[in-house]
Order: sequence, then C-alpha cells, then structure tokens
Amino acid sequence: MKLKFTTVLMATLAALCLGAAPAALSQSNWPDRSVILVVPFTAGGPTDLVARLIAVPMGKALGQTVLVENTVGAGGTIAGARVARAAPNGYTLFLHHMGMATAPALYKKLSFDPLKDFEYIGQVVDVPMTMLARKDFPASNFKELEAYVRANKTKVSLANAGMGAVSHLCGLLFMSQIGVDLTTVPYKGTGPAMNDLLGGQVDLLCDQTTTTVPMIKDGRVKVYGVTTLKRLTALPNVPTLDEQGLKGFEVKVWHGLYAPKGTPAPVLEKLNAALRVALQDSVLKQRMAELSSDIVPMDKATPAGLKTQLESEIAKWGPVIQKAGIYAD
Ligand code: MLT
Repeated sequence: MKLKFTTVLMATLAALCLGAAPAALSQSNWPDRSVILVVPFTAGGPTDLVARLIAVPMGKALGQTVLVENTVGAGGTIAGARVARAAPNGYTLFLHHMGMATAPALYKKLSFDPLKDFEYIGQVVDVPMTMLARKDFPASNFKELEAYVRANKTKVSLANAGMGAVSHLCGLLFMSQIGVDLTTVPYKGTGPAMNDLLGGQVDLLCDQTTTTVPMIKDGRVKVYGVTTLKRLTALPNVPTLDEQGLKGFEVKVWHGLYAPKGTPAPVLEKLNAALRVALQDSVLKQRMAELSSDIVPMDKATPAGLKTQLESEIAKWGPVIQKAGIYAD
C-alpha cells in the first residue's frame, strides 16, 4: 500500500513538473513573436500617437515588434473588454488614459473591472489639452467665445470622442463653468473629430496637445486656451483657461500601460523594464517636449505608481460623475 502511494505521488509530481516545464520555458523565451498594443481610440488621434511613439523603443528593448491595434468605440470601453478577455500571456497589452478611471462611474453596464481585470505595468505620459474652434468660427478670443456660446447655446456644436473620452470630460467642464449646454457630437476618437473641425462640420473641440500643437502653430484651427494652470512652453502666447476666468480649470491627461489579469510576473517585469527604457528614448523625449507633454518620473512608471494613480482617480471621479448625473446605459 505504501509503495503504491509513493508511486502515485512520484507520478503526480512528475506530471506536475512536465506540465510546468512548457509554461516556464515559454516565459523565459517571451517574447518570441510580435506584441499587440491595443489603443481604445482611432488612428491619428492623441492616444494612438502616444502608443506609436512608445511602441518603437519598447519593441527595441524587447527584441520584437510592438504592433498598435485600434479597437474603437464606447469611449474606450470596447477595447477595455477586449484586453480584459485576452490571453494573459504578455502578447496583448493596453494603453489607455484617465478614461480607465471614469468608465466605472459613467458606464452602468461595464463588462470589465479596471481594478480587477488587469495587471499594472506603469504610467507613461501626462498630456495637457487645448480648447479649439474651426478656423472661421466667429469668436477670435476667449471673451468673444464666451459671449458667442452664451448667445447661441445649442446652435454651437462641440465634438468629443465619446462618453468617458477626455475630450468629453473637458467639454463637460467647459460647459458647466460657462453655464451653457452646447450640442455635443460624439466620434470614435478625436482624429475624426479633428478632421471635421478642419472641414468646418463642427464648431469646437477640446483636444490634447499631442495632436493640437502642430495644428495651432500652422493656424489651421483657432485656440482659446490651455487646460493647465501654467502656460505651455510649446504655446507660450496661448493663455490658460484659468487666467481667463475659468478658475481652477485644469485637465492633464495621464496614461497607463496594462496587461490582462494573470499575466505571469516574469513577463510583467520584462514589460516594465522595457517601458522604463522606452521612456528614456531620445526621440520620444524630444517629441513629447515639442508637444508640451511630460514623460512621467521613473517612480510613476511602475506597477505601484499606476495602481495608486488608478485607485485615487476612480475615487476622485466617481462622486463627481454621480453628482453630475451623467452615465451611459
Ligand atoms: C483619442 O485618442 O482619440 C483621444 O484620446 C480621445 C479622447 O478625447 O479621450
């Protein structure tokens, strides 16, 4: 009987070891093919741009290509669900901004849990925003904009990238501080929203400097203010919204890099190391400086740095959104 038990035990241990071997091997070989970086908004927009700028140096650090995939719609929540359900093997990653923190309060039927369904890799960059209008919009400065929107209210259209997009949040803040309701026009990213602003199909858009600085410098759009409390080095002549009377108006868009829950720790460590190397990349640094965007300090480019940020932002936005009574069914 004793012999039989030992035999069974040995056989079980052998089976366990054999079972464990391929997993350990696959982790030590990871990555042996391309890695997909899912972006929740359209190509050509600000989140896509950050993803493409980070994908190149991360790919170099990992020795594999990092391919950007745009899974768009519902303010970024379709992409969130896609990554939450992806195999936790390090080959599917997610780059999202602060919409990850507003989604639980905004979406009644959110099919993923930002706090439970992901592993944290680290924070990436912080990006300011700008309030813009189509080039031929009647108001030529902020005072005129205020007067015009008060007089014309819902005749004025304000584009955004869907509920929970930062362009949506910035627009809500703008409307509540001015005290008027405009007609909001949702898109699947600010890339197509910007195209319509350039084409004159919509009037206003609040969008991130990663895509707006070149448009402003080329005079393709009108700019009324920046959403930081200090003026930006890339746009020194553009006043802040705060200094023009919208007291305390501040939106800076933070970004995080995530993997599906259950991604093995050794893979997460390699991903974090690659992120930290990528954030030191000279091309990325130069591009971000030109666009007045800040690469995060290294203590934030960590799993703990991202976890703390996401938890505190969920706690911050939940009551604000509930009080405002805005949500998607
Ligand atoms: C985008 O990439 O299109 C934007 O980040 C969307 C947004 O406004 O949040």
